[in-house]
Amino acid sequence: MSHDFKMAESDLVVKAFVVSWVLPCCAIIFVLHFFKRKFKEIFSAVWAYLLNKTVPIVNKATKRHKKKLFSELLDQRKDLGRDLMILEIGAGGGANFAFYPPKSNVTCLDPNRYFDAYLEVNSKKHRQRVNYLKGFAENMEMVESDMYDAVVCTLVLCSVRSTSKSLEEVRRVLKPGGKFYFLEHIAAEKGSLTGYFQGLLNPIWSFMSGCHITRETKQAVRRAGFARTRITPFNGKFPFVFVIRPLCMGIATK
Ligand SMILES: C[S@@+](CC[C@H](N)C(=O)[O-])C[C@H]1O[C@@H](n2cnc3c(N)ncnc32)[C@H](O)[C@@H]1O
Repeated sequence: MSHDFKMAESDLVVKAFVVSWVLPCCAIIFVLHFFKRKFKEIFSAVWAYLLNKTVPIVNKATKRHKKKLFSELLDQRKDLGRDLMILEIGAGGGANFAFYPPKSNVTCLDPNRYFDAYLEVNSKKHRQRVNYLKGFAENMEMVESDMYDAVVCTLVLCSVRSTSKSLEEVRRVLKPGGKFYFLEHIAAEKGSLTGYFQGLLNPIWSFMSGCHITRETKQAVRRAGFARTRITPFNGKFPFVFVIRPLCMGIATK
């Protein structure tokens, strides 16, 4: 009798523990997990919308540089005598379509699927043929090696997790003689006032936006094993506020 009573008592303790701790904890974890995914989706959609809205402003501020940079695509198009195969990494909403030779075959790689609708509209506007890949520059395993005449990336290397892995992948997917076109904001000179503020702000800046303002992209491209690299640093106008300056653009040939 006393043994049965003890069993019933321990059952009650287990039941109470499950009801008052295990179930509520599971419910909280489930709700947090659900909202984390939902929140991430909402954030990605809003980010894509906002970034697409800023395209005309950024393109106005970089028009002269982008025109000069991408003019070499026209030369490539002429030399090859066919439409170009271009891979744009971190394509966003297609900010660079206006600068490509019309009817290029552009593969747009971006982790954020909410850009697709903007890419569709912008590709029609600028008469480009696009297809989409969801993924990260650091691992483009879905892309064969030696595939593209040109790889383009503008304002992306500040956001990737690994610059060196991304550049290794860029070089892999380019055809021999293919060209990597880039335009990025970079770390200011060491010891400069801007460099000091970049170092101070970068932890919070990168946490909030995923964008790093202290990346030494020029050096990273030079170290990436391309046959030839040309880089031009420049100082951007608004909207590149002082901590997201200077910028650089360049072409690296495989
Ligand atoms: C500041 S936006 C620039 C978009 C566009 N290239 C432009 O110039 O307007 C950065 C883009 O890089 C993408 N991105 C972030 N991390 C990435 C990664 N690891 N690989 C490829 N794209 C990435 C983002 O989704 C976003 O579209």
